[in-house]
Amino acid sequence: MSTVRFAVVGTEGIGTRHIDGIRKTPEAVLTAVCDINPDWAAKAAAQNGLDRSYTDYREMYRDGGFDCVIVCTPDQYHAAQAIEALEAGYHVLCEKPLTMTHAECAAIVDAAKKSGKLFMVGQVCRKTPGFRLAKQLVEQGEIGELFYVESEYAHDYALQPRGEWRRDPNYLRHPVVGGGCHAMDLLRWIAGDPTEVFAYANHKVLTDWPVDDCTISVLKYPNGVIGKVFCSIGCKRPYTMRTVLYGDKGTIIVDNKTPELTLFKAFTYADTGSTKYIPTMIPVQVNDHNMTDEIMDMCDAILGRRPVETDAVEGANTVEVCLAAVQSAAEGRPIVPAYFTRD
Ligand SMILES: NC(=O)c1ccc[n+]([C@@H]2O[C@H](COP(=O)([O-])OP(=O)(O)OC[C@H]3O[C@@H](n4cnc5c(N)ncnc54)[C@H](O)[C@@H]3O)[C@@H](O)[C@H]2O)c1
Repeated sequence: MSTVRFAVVGTEGIGTRHIDGIRKTPEAVLTAVCDINPDWAAKAAAQNGLDRSYTDYREMYRDGGFDCVIVCTPDQYHAAQAIEALEAGYHVLCEKPLTMTHAECAAIVDAAKKSGKLFMVGQVCRKTPGFRLAKQLVEQGEIGELFYVESEYAHDYALQPRGEWRRDPNYLRHPVVGGGCHAMDLLRWIAGDPTEVFAYANHKVLTDWPVDDCTISVLKYPNGVIGKVFCSIGCKRPYTMRTVLYGDKGTIIVDNKTPELTLFKAFTYADTGSTKYIPTMIPVQVNDHNMTDEIMDMCDAILGRRPVETDAVEGANTVEVCLAAVQSAAEGRPIVPAYFTRD
């Protein structure tokens, strides 16, 4: 096998980025598309030279002709569509968040283990050039030992053109799970798994939504590092994920929308002897939806070159940190995330 055949479920929205990523990946080919909206399914098929499209993912799974399913539908469909794909013998790349409940996380982890198929959660911030550079600088010891990390998911959903499902009262998509999982996952990737989460939430901007629209989560790590994630889906500013990593020898400031990373370290001037913090601005590419790298990683894994980094357990554990924040805000006490293991 030298080419990986992909099927996409949910072709509009973020699905367009995955289809674009498949086009840009020489080892990937799109062979099937499904969208519940027949016009969008037909459009995706026509744009990609496919003879037919599907509106029922089960029919597409039965017909086959692909190796991997990319699940790009609203969060509440991830579990069923991903589990059924695994059970039908396909590898799966599933959009974040893995799903929205502990029970569904457990079901997906279990199905992935039993299937023997590869499973990747699209935690795309791990592919964002600025965040990748920040992690690399931390690992190289550029800012010394971390002592405090913070990130955010600051968005104004009032401006979203589509996606009414996000406010569906039947599913209660908590923003800290749905969108905040980006920032929680980013900090997990850089600083590790928090042992405890304490959160406050309020509901002052998108007051007609069924859930709190702003959450502050304070994170405690095993090595004494502390952290914070701010998540708002109603804030009046352009989308950003400003992230600051504080080490005992330096500080990194980076986001997903600015073409440079700021690194602060102290410099002493030989002539005056004075010490100052001069920023080093490192150029980075802005690419906050780098699905192409996800597709390339999935191809690498399926072709046996390397394991999947964000597997089902990894995706589930990010959701668990988010769920701990939701529970903490509701109950007013610190919560220990219910992590999954690979045993
Ligand atoms: N990685 C990221 O940065 C990022 C960004 C946006 C959205 N997302 C995630 O991607 C997923 C989709 O979000 P979106 O913004 O593209 O939503 P969207 O509403 O814009 O698009 C969803 C698509 O799925 C289709 N669909 C809905 N139910 C379906 C079903 N049962 N079967 C087949 N197709 C169905 C819709 O018709 C639509 O084409 C969500 O899980 C969301 O959290 C991730």
